[in-house]
Parts: sequence; C-alpha cells; structure tokens
Amino acid sequence: MFDEYGFPRGAELDEAALPALYHFVYCSRAADGVDDAEVGRIVESAQRHNLARGITGVLVFGSGVFFQWIEGPAAEIQKLIASLHGDSRHYDIVSLSQSEEKRERLYPNWDMEKVEAEDIRLVLQDALESADDKNNVAALTRILEQLDSGPLGSLGRS
Ligand SMILES: Cc1cc2nc3c(=O)[nH]c(=O)nc-3n(C[C@H](O)[C@H](O)[C@H](O)COP(=O)(O)O)c2cc1C
Repeated sequence: MFDEYGFPRGAELDEAALPALYHFVYCSRAADGVDDAEVGRIVESAQRHNLARGITGVLVFGSGVFFQWIEGPAAEIQKLIASLHGDSRHYDIVSLSQSEEKRERLYPNWDMEKVEAEDIRLVLQDALESADDKNNVAALTRILEQLDSGPLGSLGRS
C-alpha cells in the first residue's frame, strides 16, 4: 500500500493523498577525462545516496553530454542541485525544468541509460524548442553546435 518512501501506491492514489514531489531536469557537458568508468562511479554513488534521501530519477550519458531527471523531497533535491553545481566532472549545466507538484513519481526507480549522439540530440532539440530563458537557449544551441562539429561526438561512445 506504500512504497519504500512511504508514498501511497497505485490504485489508492488520489491527488489529495499525493505528496509534493520536486523535480529538476538539466543537461550538462562532461569534463575532459570523464570516461565510462567515471560515469559508473557517479551512478554507483548516486544509487547509494539517492535511495537514502528518497530521490529517484534517470541519468543519460552520451556523446559527452549528461541529461538527468531527479525527483524527490524539495529539500533533498535542492541539496543535490547545490552538489551538482559544485561538481567539476561536468560543466555548462542548463536547467531545463524544475517545480514542485503533487503527483506520482515518473521514475519510481533509479535508472541509467547510455545513449548515442542521435538520441541525445533529440532530447536537446526538444528541450531547445520549449526553452524560453535566453541563457538556456544559448547553452543548448552551443551544445548542439558542438555535437555537429564533432569533438563531443567522439566522447562517451562505447
Ligand atoms: C552528471 C552527474 C550526476 C550526478 N548525479 C548524482 C545523483 O543523482 N545523486 C548524488 O548523490 N550525486 C550525484 N552526483 C554526484 C554529486 O555531484 C556529488 O558528488 C555527490 O552528491 C556528493 O556530494 P557531497 O560530497 O557534496 O555530499 C552526480 C554527479 C554528476 C557529475
């Protein structure tokens, strides 16, 4: 009847009973030297920390670009956002969406995918179409241009 975070499950859900869930979605560029092994370490430590903090989500890594969706209690997500901004393993962090809503989790379990350049391009182009902050538009455009010109395209591919 409740999941491991104490949230009501499935059929019993009605909106009033749903907890407020904060989500943060961003993309960023992997720093030089961040390879598959480093991404493996990030995922392993994220799995450990996130479960203890009621945070779930998905991390996508492809062509030297990260895309991450995280959701959970607002205070925990805010702390993680601060850690992410101080983490030198990535840069050019573009916040694509964040808000608090009463809803079910989109990602009830932590997950990680590795995607090819074409897939990360579609995710970024989608984000660009809905971005209205001009800094986000500029950073997304820059990432897409770099994907086109090649240097990012050879990173992160397995
Ligand atoms: C792309 C990327 C995604 C990350 N995702 C998470 C995450 O989901 N959860 C987490 O605890 N740390 C994540 N980290 C690591 C954090 O930035 C940070 O190193 C970690 O939370 C430990 O921070 P602290 O030493 O300040 O407690 C991620 C790092 C990177 C570069």
